[in-house]
Amino acid sequence: MQSIISLDEFIIQRQKDFPYATGELSGLLRDIGLASKIISREVNKAGLVDITGQIGTQNASGEAVQKLDVMADNLLIASLQNSGECCGIASEENNTYVPIEKSKNAKYVVLFDPLDGSSNIDVNISIGTIFAIYRRISDDGACQLEDFLQDGVEQVAAGYVLYGSSTMLIYTTGKGVNGFTLDPSIGEFCLSHPNIKIPQKGSIYSINQSAYPSFDRATQLFIDECMEAGHRFRYVGSMVADVHRTLIKGGIFAYPASQKAPEGKLRLLYECNPLSFVMEQAGGMASNGKERILELEATQLHQRCPIYMGSPDMVERILQLQQEQA
Ligand code: AHG
Ligand code: MN
Ligand code: MN
Repeated sequence: MQSIISLDEFIIQRQKDFPYATGELSGLLRDIGLASKIISREVNKAGLVDITGQIGTQNASGEAVQKLDVMADNLLIASLQNSGECCGIASEENNTYVPIEKSKNAKYVVLFDPLDGSSNIDVNISIGTIFAIYRRISDDGACQLEDFLQDGVEQVAAGYVLYGSSTMLIYTTGKGVNGFTLDPSIGEFCLSHPNIKIPQKGSIYSINQSAYPSFDRATQLFIDECMEAGHRFRYVGSMVADVHRTLIKGGIFAYPASQKAPEGKLRLLYECNPLSFVMEQAGGMASNGKERILELEATQLHQRCPIYMGSPDMVERILQLQQEQA
């Protein structure tokens, strides 16, 4: 039987890769893995029980909150509260950060988008969970806002879970990217995609083309070039699914600024930074059209930023067009 390497075994094997290899980070990744197994179970039976649909409230970004969003958010918070390694969390579903009293002196904070692609829940299209882990910078005691407003380059780990035809967990601690597929028969995430690297070139572009008229000139020219080159167009509408396909097959995913969304739609801290860390660790690039995503200054928890990410050849081309059109 081919040797199965579970997420837990892999984390322990690779602990030496991690400068703070005291097992705390391993504990956090295991807790996120546990919460995502439960979320996967709930997502996979969503159609059978009444947990799809909206609950009638809006989140900090003014978006309708879906029942599974809240369930996923509560599960992740509960799991991280039990971990003892996390002194606070910030998530898309909470206006401000949530200090964790019983582990207030712990070394890490976690930011997450508990359920990404919520608008796809009711139509059974792939959705995901995105997470970013930082070491706190405030002194011991209750965590502070500054612990969450760190640049993306300070992330000590980041990744995502994709609830698709199978459930996968992909993460990085800055030493490459590894993917694990959930084997429901044993309830374990098993190493299935070791050392993921994105193709240098791509022939798939993933941008909400319906907003073409309101994109800047450089983005319009880039889309024109993709069509002239005969590239394939793919857009799922769940960032995790579109980014995962880009990571595996190559190409570019973008959510540009537009007249309707002058800062773009996607949030820097719990969508763009974690997925950009993974993308760069897989040999890809991630930019807001001018600067590297991971170097953008964070001033608010729910701030948005335009994003172009994927195969270096394609991202470099859009950056060149942005420069020419500046
Ligand atoms: P979330 O469900 O966490 O709010 O994220 C949805 C985001 C992202 O997943 C996706 O790329 C984007 O919304 C799609 O937006 P449009 O429907 O405007 O294309
Ligand atoms: Mn999202
Ligand atoms: Mn979300």
